[in-house]
Amino acid sequence: MTSDRPTTLAESAGPASAAPRDRPLVVLGIETSCDETAAAIVRRNADGSGEIMSNIVRSQLAEHGPYGGVVPEIAARAHVQCLGPIAREALASAGVALAEVDLIAATAGPGLIGGLLAGLTFAKALALSSAKPFIAINHLEAHALTVGLTDRLAPPYLMLLVSGGHTQTVLVEAVGRYRRIGSTIDDALGEAFDKTAKILGLGYPGGPAVERAAHAGDPARFDLPRPLMGRPEPNFSFAGLKTAVRRTVQRLAEDGGVSERSIADLCASFEAAVAETVVDRCRRAFEVAERRPSGRMLLLVVSGGVAANTRLRAALTAFAEAHGTRAIFPPIGLCTDNGAMIAWAGAERFIAGDSDDLAFEARARWPLDAAASPLLGAGKHGAKA
Ligand code: KG4
Ligand code: ZN
Repeated sequence: MTSDRPTTLAESAGPASAAPRDRPLVVLGIETSCDETAAAIVRRNADGSGEIMSNIVRSQLAEHGPYGGVVPEIAARAHVQCLGPIAREALASAGVALAEVDLIAATAGPGLIGGLLAGLTFAKALALSSAKPFIAINHLEAHALTVGLTDRLAPPYLMLLVSGGHTQTVLVEAVGRYRRIGSTIDDALGEAFDKTAKILGLGYPGGPAVERAAHAGDPARFDLPRPLMGRPEPNFSFAGLKTAVRRTVQRLAEDGGVSERSIADLCASFEAAVAETVVDRCRRAFEVAERRPSGRMLLLVVSGGVAANTRLRAALTAFAEAHGTRAIFPPIGLCTDNGAMIAWAGAERFIAGDSDDLAFEARARWPLDAAASPLLGAGKHGAKA
């Protein structure tokens, strides 16, 4: 019997088929929440292991570089232009036809709304036209689950996410169960690196430039602040550190100029302050998060672009080892924004029985832990996580 009632988008896509547990699941993942347009094909095998069949990332660094930061309008336009070719490239380099894809996953938030809309709409259109199930992914959840793909690591563990847009610690209890432990109350850590680089005239993105300059520097020359260190709430703050860098540069300029030597020392001192602060905040996060019944510390999983920083990696590794656990760093290409992590999170959620309606809307703000209260600032794109 037919009805006159118009079919909704979700209905016309058809019901999501039951997640296949006995055969591989092939997932297309789309990521557009910030300044990377990314698409990937990931296969989740029946035994729970994952395989990246393709992982195409197009960075918009060249577009945003002249502005010293991500310009939302430029980002959204670039995503719209690149999505089609990049998704096609992901399929082609995986040697997979769209008909062979079992699930389409796309980032729905948190992030810049224009980019999210571009990627989400693209993914929904693809799901609708090919009658595939669709799943809307929380970008933070994708970062949180990446170690399942790279290291076959299952929760529970503590995740430290340090990127240009996010800085937080999250207790990953299970797929779909997350407890935010601490978050930044002002700038994200990557943002602090970027702003420090800008103050020192080192270019964008700032993190790698600060790290290069710091290499030859003396980390003990400048006594920069360690914001929130020792405080009971396991939050982060970096605005004061950046301001201290600015004041130091002004003082050096008044005293006769900012030499290469001073820039190197300032970068090294900045990195030392960051490493010490982040380790202290992680120590506190471990105290706040529950310990395993065995009394052993959880593993520390580090993600986000700042996880590339050598001094921070060394400090976190030493901290974890001193406390009888390990710090895990997924390969840097999978710590930074990519489509493979979105596809993998999609696979994990689909296997757990989830899928989403095509009416699912993009969310600029989408905390992973709905019960956590919003903090004051939380990153360059406003309070969102
Ligand atoms: O995760 P990510 O690639 O993307 C976004 O947040 O969008 O992180 C980018 C951030 C930038 O702020 C960049 O300056 C920082 O990660 N970053 C670094 C390093 N490499 C990238 N920060 C410190 N040291 C690095 N080696
Ligand atoms: Zn990210």
